[in-house]
Amino acid sequence: MQQLISDIGILGGAESESCETVKVSEDKHLGNSRKLYIESYGCQMNFSDSEIVASILGENGFDTTSDIQQADLIFLNTCSIREKAETTVRNRLVHLNGLKRGRPGLLIGVLGCMAERVKAKLLDEEQIVDLVAGPDSYRDLPKMIERVDDGQKAVNTFLSREETYADISPVRLNSNGVTAFVSIMRGCDNMCTFCVVPFTRGRERSRDPESIVAEARDLFMRGFREVTLLGQNVDSYKWSAQENNKAWLEKQGITEVVTFAHLLEAVAQVSPELRIRFSTSHPKDITDEVLHVMARYENICKYIHLPLQSGNTRILELMNRGYSHEWYHNKVLRIKEILGDDCGISSDMITGFCSETEAEHQDTLLMMDKVKFDFAYMFCYSERPGTLAEKRFKDDIAEDVKKRRLEEVIERQRLHSLERNQRDVGKIHRVLIEGFSKRSDNHYQGRTSANKVVVFPKSNFNKGQYVNVLVEECTGGTLIGRAV
Ligand code: SAH
Ligand code: SF4
Ligand code: F3S
Repeated sequence: MQQLISDIGILGGAESESCETVKVSEDKHLGNSRKLYIESYGCQMNFSDSEIVASILGENGFDTTSDIQQADLIFLNTCSIREKAETTVRNRLVHLNGLKRGRPGLLIGVLGCMAERVKAKLLDEEQIVDLVAGPDSYRDLPKMIERVDDGQKAVNTFLSREETYADISPVRLNSNGVTAFVSIMRGCDNMCTFCVVPFTRGRERSRDPESIVAEARDLFMRGFREVTLLGQNVDSYKWSAQENNKAWLEKQGITEVVTFAHLLEAVAQVSPELRIRFSTSHPKDITDEVLHVMARYENICKYIHLPLQSGNTRILELMNRGYSHEWYHNKVLRIKEILGDDCGISSDMITGFCSETEAEHQDTLLMMDKVKFDFAYMFCYSERPGTLAEKRFKDDIAEDVKKRRLEEVIERQRLHSLERNQRDVGKIHRVLIEGFSKRSDNHYQGRTSANKVVVFPKSNFNKGQYVNVLVEECTGGTLIGRAV
């Protein structure tokens, strides 16, 4: 997989909501005549959406291909989170222009957050684009493609208050057959001032819990051993009981409203052999109930992605994050109290937000020293058109200052990642095998409950199996050991 961004420090090896990576579709032969090649940028939500798109088009005449040369239709599922994410897509379109010139029948579509943000203007700005579809319009894709086949352009950037694609069974792309994402909600109502997501993905809505549990069960039956429940803010998951849910709710012992804690528990009950992860938690919303459910179920991984963004209370207020320095620290202490110090905690950090002083930047480093995150995704602030920060504040921190602060944050995180990994040396961890290690086919790679990547000699084990590994050494990003 290709890393397309330079202002990011990935420490610990996992993929975050936030790294602008690209994944292409693989070959899925459903017996259709035309071929779709889809490239996904941005967060796990987009990767998960691409699987929904592949499913919808699979029933409407398209197989997916990993060979762009074979494609009749190319989709870029795009991200708008930072300016760089959009620049990457525009550069990609320039490249595709060459391809299209040699193959006049080739259709090109832009999906996802950038489609939603730029809308029909994309057709003027990027002449080679035939189709623009926002994240809530994927059911309309077959009709839109028909329109393009008839020689027109097609745009649908309508945002819905209800769409969750609950009934669509995703076609798993780039799957290792062991781990899968399950989307539990869409959109975001939080309005962090720096963030474009509420504008590109619309209002927050939760998916029917029964369809979520059914999807997790189906994955388990097909041999998957880990699901990650996805949402921009999973702790605000909320499902008000409807007539057809009554029996299920009764069985679960829930009276009216299904919370994230309830949902987590219901998914954990699918099987003790199915691991559960979730992302992303908002520090202001994660509850004690969720932490207690995590503690009760061995198969819920002891790992929380809890983005800090900034360690300074004034900056957090300007960001509209809804918590202070002390509040965040107390939340971390509570997590450690209920789940123990082995529970992994990771973060996202933004440096050089509007008017951030040197002393305020130091507060971020201070919080990092207090918490010692297992890993983090770190970014320079990038002003996004239409956000509250763009309207209210001046993007007044010079680029070189943002970068220098970012380097300081990355350097500090490097120390902490190594320190946290060193704690695991000499200990035995239960690891779910995900496949061959990146470097060698004689080694497997998997993750601990706390989401740390472990590499160990393959011996007679199989992918999808749990194995106890004694950690013998480590780097800042990987634990190295042997099965015991
Ligand atoms: N829903 C998640 C994050 C979604 S975006 C949450 O609430 O934490 C992923 C990360 O991108 C954010 O956590 C933030 O650190 C970063 N990010 C978002 N907007 C940004 C911007 N304008 N500039 C730089 N980084 C940004
Ligand atoms: Fe963006 Fe904030 Fe919503 Fe996360 S919680 S998606 S940072 S608005
Ligand atoms: Fe995700 Fe990027 Fe959209 S981070 S929600 S794809 S703006």
